[in-house]
Amino acid sequence: MINKIIAGDCLEKMKLIEKCSVDLIYLDPPFFTKKEHTLSNSERTKVFSFEDFWESDTGYAKFLKTRIEAMKDLLKEDGSIFVHCDKSAEHIIRAILDNVFGAENFQSEIIWSYKRWSNSKKGLLASHQNIYFYSKSKSFKFNTIYTAYSETTNVDQILQRRTRDKHNKSVYDKNDAGEVKYSGQKKGVPLNDVWDIPYLNPKAKERVGYPTQKPLILLERIIKLTTNEEDLVLDPFCGSGTTCVAAKLLNRNFIGIDQSIEAVQLSERRISNPVKTESNLLKKGRRSYVNKDKEALSLLSGLEYNAVQRNKGVDAILVNSYKDSPVLVRVQKPNERLRDAVSLLAKAMKSKKSKKSILIQTNHDELPKEETVLEGMVIFKSLSIQIASSLESEKDLSVTSQIALS
Ligand SMILES: C[S@@+](CC[C@H](N)C(=O)[O-])C[C@H]1O[C@@H](n2cnc3c(N)ncnc32)[C@H](O)[C@@H]1O
Repeated sequence: MINKIIAGDCLEKMKLIEKCSVDLIYLDPPFFTKKEHTLSNSERTKVFSFEDFWESDTGYAKFLKTRIEAMKDLLKEDGSIFVHCDKSAEHIIRAILDNVFGAENFQSEIIWSYKRWSNSKKGLLASHQNIYFYSKSKSFKFNTIYTAYSETTNVDQILQRRTRDKHNKSVYDKNDAGEVKYSGQKKGVPLNDVWDIPYLNPKAKERVGYPTQKPLILLERIIKLTTNEEDLVLDPFCGSGTTCVAAKLLNRNFIGIDQSIEAVQLSERRISNPVKTESNLLKKGRRSYVNKDKEALSLLSGLEYNAVQRNKGVDAILVNSYKDSPVLVRVQKPNERLRDAVSLLAKAMKSKKSKKSILIQTNHDELPKEETVLEGMVIFKSLSIQIASSLESEKDLSVTSQIALS
């Protein structure tokens, strides 16, 4: 394993690294803010700072360009670079990257967006930063990450397979009988380039008091996208060592460089005892987009599913399919009769060619004797119904035993 943090100017220290050996470089250099960044740790025992003063934009551009050129030499042919910046110098950095890596190797401009609540300046509240993603060549390593479907996605969009017609228009794929073909298991929507990740709040456990410290979740995402386990990640402006900590947590090799000895010591301390703040917002985010009956969906917790909006019969589809057909789920609504829930779900099964469905019963009613359920449909009683029924039967028992005693 290569796991080290080096003190010094990255231009010099990168000479120690073997050429074409690095899979991913992430850099979060000074942003050309023309000020000194200072912050102290929560116990106020230590003040960390770094300078971001420049005589001119050309001076700043020269400083970065020479270092980015050296970084390119260190990358493997299928390696990638992510450069973090903001409105102060995004135009300069994009031009440098086009020049060094070639505009044809530009892959994405990631917008990292987060909430802020106050603005000391006149104008729009700035609440995003930019991360430029370039590859060294066309054959770069990339692991697609999938996210949940949005609330506006309807059941057909999730289930049906698409193809191109003779005019190259995207249409639903149909079989010879004109029936729409089932798409099989879908993983979700590929991650897009706008990332809604909360900024570290001042009380976050993960915060170490380093100015402009980035959240681990952000770095983990970048590392997962473009590297595999045991690959080598380099951060030449590592500050408090966020990239190195994320790499360690994901079982990647890493090298961090920082010209500040205090930053290097802090990084080493963090690496030996990584602390990560779980973002509730991010964790719940997936489901918080879902404005479907939250109570109903809470009954599905523990199952892997895609919530379905705008469909009368179905609340969710399980991620795992059954005999090549979708598993539909419906939760009985508060004032809905069981027979109505059964009939709506049966209808959906027929129209979606589903061979298995699950109905979660939430009310105390029974199906009329003459009523049967469609083959493949299973009815489960919700936990609250099971508990209520069990208490009810225990009450009966205690009444019986009281009668017996008297
Ligand atoms: C924006 S901070 C990085 C913050 C980091 N991403 C984190 O999460 O803590 C920029 C860092 O670059 C370092 N730096 C500035 N010039 C440098 C250079 N020539 N070589 C190495 N490090 C440098 C500063 O000391 C500072 O720690």
